[in-house]
Amino acid sequence: MAPNMLSQALPIDVGIGAPLLEVRGVVRSFALPRSGFAPASRVQAVTDVSFSIAPGEVLGLVGESGSGKSTLARLVMRLLAPDHGSVFFEGRDLAALVGADLKRFRGTVQMVFQDPYASLNPRRNVGQAIDEVLALHGGQNRAERHVLAGDLLERVGLGRSDIARRPHEFSGGQRQRIAIARALAVKPRVLVADEPVSALDVSVQAGILALLRDLQSSFNLAMLFISHDLGVVELMADRVMVLYLGRVMEVASVRSVFREPRHPYTAGLLWAAPGARRRRGQPVLLKDEIPSPADPPSGCVFRTRCPFAQSECAQSVPPLRTVRPGHQIACLRDDLALEAPGPHA
Ligand SMILES: Nc1ncnc2c1ncn2[C@@H]1O[C@H](COP(=O)(O)OP(=O)(O)OP(=O)(O)O)[C@@H](O)[C@H]1O
Ligand code: SF4
Ligand SMILES: [Mg+2]
Repeated sequence: MAPNMLSQALPIDVGIGAPLLEVRGVVRSFALPRSGFAPASRVQAVTDVSFSIAPGEVLGLVGESGSGKSTLARLVMRLLAPDHGSVFFEGRDLAALVGADLKRFRGTVQMVFQDPYASLNPRRNVGQAIDEVLALHGGQNRAERHVLAGDLLERVGLGRSDIARRPHEFSGGQRQRIAIARALAVKPRVLVADEPVSALDVSVQAGILALLRDLQSSFNLAMLFISHDLGVVELMADRVMVLYLGRVMEVASVRSVFREPRHPYTAGLLWAAPGARRRRGQPVLLKDEIPSPADPPSGCVFRTRCPFAQSECAQSVPPLRTVRPGHQIACLRDDLALEAPGPHA
């Protein structure tokens, strides 16, 4: 990229080191609307989840609908508070951030949502949308902000002249590029991307993913990248965390998760992906439907769909344990030899 205002405005190399973001034992539930005479109940959206993300690292978060992915994203953004546990950014508890520290956090951790249209005000043109965040966090004067907004639009593959156009004049993919430019405007060190391509046509998904990957490496962005699409996560992530009914089932490097999964749920997800059944190996088939998050199974929450469940699986909640360096699973059995479908032909 040619040296311009954008290159000064965005972070450069911050180096891999201590965690930038750390989530420790977070729990979050929601009250469900009371129905008839039934007692009030709660849904446990996230239960005892811990993870960390290093500077410049991409953690992929996968799981079926309702597994707690967006709840975790909102906890990390401090859009929600945990019932228990804590989220730390640069070693500081988010719950304790106030004033200038909170403002800095709001600038440093940015989010890209599934629906770019919902995050853009239809009455404001693109320049105004970007200017709004720059004025709040950037510290430049109006003329500098105008130049910077143009730089940002070019950086995400749009034109400087697009600055005067309104969101409805763009396609879904272009709108997601605008949302990304807006998120980048405030020099983030962390980007939380919640299903950033799942609302887009398949034909434009690859372009947005390539852009995110390019920006991630250019600016050494740490990312929490959420998707229910395993292929997308494999493309984007360094490490992967698999969630089921709000609990962590497996965490490992992207290669380990896709080639040597050690948790039956991960293996089942891989075998359920399109095209997997045509490949070699012994498929791991998931049984039945996902249970209601309001009434999860006892013991291992995955046991009603697990082909390897035993009676002990109904009694004890499996702790997350290390099966080899950097690879953890929550499964009581250590005698399973699971096969992955293997790489695409
Ligand atoms: N504000 C809320 N009020 C009540 N229940 C909620 C609320 N937000 C989330 N939930 C419930 O918490 C659970 C986890 O939801 P969440 O949106 O985090 O899942 P998800 O993995 O992002 O799903 P999806 O893939 O469909 O986006 C679900 O059972 C959901 O219905
Ligand atoms: S603990 Fe039991 S039910 Fe849960 S994943 Fe392991 S074998 Fe399956
Ligand atoms: Mg979600």
